[in-house]
Amino acid sequence: MKLRKENILIVDDDTNVLELLQRHLHSWNFHVYKAVSVKEAVAILKDTRLSLLITDLKMPEIDGTELLKFVSEHYPDLPRLVVTGYPSVQDSLAAIKSGVHEYLTKPFTKDELKEAIDRAISINENEVEQKGHQTKEGEGYGEMTGGSESIEHIFEIIDRLKDNKATVFINGESGTGKELVARSIHYQGKFANFPFIAVNCGGIPENLLETELFGYVKGAFTGAEKDREGFFQAANGGSIFLDEIANASLAVQSRLLRVLQEKEVVRVGSQKTESIDLRVIAATNSSLKEMISKGSFREDLYYRLTVVEINLPPLRERKEDIPLLVDKFLTKYAIEYHDRFMRIDPQALDVLMRYDWPGNIRELENVIQRAVILGNRIIGVSDLPENLKYVIDFPKDKLFPLKEIELQYIKKVLNFTNDNKTRAAEILQIDRKTLREKLKDDKLNSNK
Ligand SMILES: Nc1ncnc2c1ncn2[C@@H]1O[C@H](COP(=O)(O)OP(=O)(O)OP(=O)(O)O)[C@@H](O)[C@H]1O
Ligand SMILES: [Mg+2]
Repeated sequence: MKLRKENILIVDDDTNVLELLQRHLHSWNFHVYKAVSVKEAVAILKDTRLSLLITDLKMPEIDGTELLKFVSEHYPDLPRLVVTGYPSVQDSLAAIKSGVHEYLTKPFTKDELKEAIDRAISINENEVEQKGHQTKEGEGYGEMTGGSESIEHIFEIIDRLKDNKATVFINGESGTGKELVARSIHYQGKFANFPFIAVNCGGIPENLLETELFGYVKGAFTGAEKDREGFFQAANGGSIFLDEIANASLAVQSRLLRVLQEKEVVRVGSQKTESIDLRVIAATNSSLKEMISKGSFREDLYYRLTVVEINLPPLRERKEDIPLLVDKFLTKYAIEYHDRFMRIDPQALDVLMRYDWPGNIRELENVIQRAVILGNRIIGVSDLPENLKYVIDFPKDKLFPLKEIELQYIKKVLNFTNDNKTRAAEILQIDRKTLREKLKDDKLNSNK
């Protein structure tokens, strides 16, 4: 799954087209930047080395022909592919005049898209020499450890993003390393000397979030005795990390939208705008798509946040990283607690490899930390928590629905606890009611 060297920017106000293009481009391993307006496209063009621009022509506010003109003046070597509905003769002429290499009319097939891209990019390769980007090879990237294909893919993306200020959206289960990725993008890049400010949107009471993010002016509310800047002003020049973005209220969402669109903030109680220049990184472990369909997350904000998307794979899908991570945490905690090195015995490592890590890397780190505290020089199976030790091995050549695996595992735990449901619920870290419900499903099925 190695990323291709080409970065492609796609610009379209129709988010369905953006998604379709992104899906196709990702399937060919291109690195994709998205923009829903010409203004946003220009911001990305400014600090990103691109290999291709794919743009629509008809867009509200500034339209695509203006973007093409801008590109032919400022980035004449950047190949351009226009994707549009029925183009007028005038539009086509204007596009050709501004040096468009390829033209695709909607609807188009995946093959037609690929052919147009290949032709547009090869034109460029004949004209200017391309410098390959630098990938970090090895077993980690900054503070991040991992050697699996999927995590190396993430390292490559970080490498492409670290020196520009494109908005990044990180999605992944709890404990997969979302914050660490955000920090890596910031601290590995050229804006590392500017601030990195992490804001937990779920941790600040809703009525304070606006003032915390955007600041306020004296007299904005009782108690506002002097002007105060918010996190956005404080992070200026660097990065702001909006963690748990799903928890931002609709009011805060609409202010965020404005910040992303206009690159300006307005303090609470003020009319005056302040321009800001920073990178926004947002993260969540919830599905924003689901929230959009329920009306609790703004779709327009979603598209502004997902200029670049990073999906962090859960640890169970990259188990080959477990030994490396174990090694890293073993060293870290053994030195911290005992001032010496420790090892893990092969059986204990085997147990760790079989477990599915619902809490991902954070859970693994906690397990190792605990084992280091409890264990001697060599960590053995007895130093590991009970719930890890009873994982059933499913046949490797057959795949099972999640429900079935869950049920098998619940039965295994019940077996271990001699049918003691309270103890089983404790081990599974669910409440007894949930356990009963999960078992009820099974009973219904077996009575059918
Ligand atoms: N690739 C990695 N290498 C080493 N340590 C990692 C890696 N990924 C995550 N960690 C560590 O795992 C822990 C959890 O990571 P992090 O806090 O970034 O996860 P998260 O996705 O933000 O979790 P949550 O959704 O619960 O906030 C941290 O201690 C982090 O340092
Ligand atoms: Mg986090």
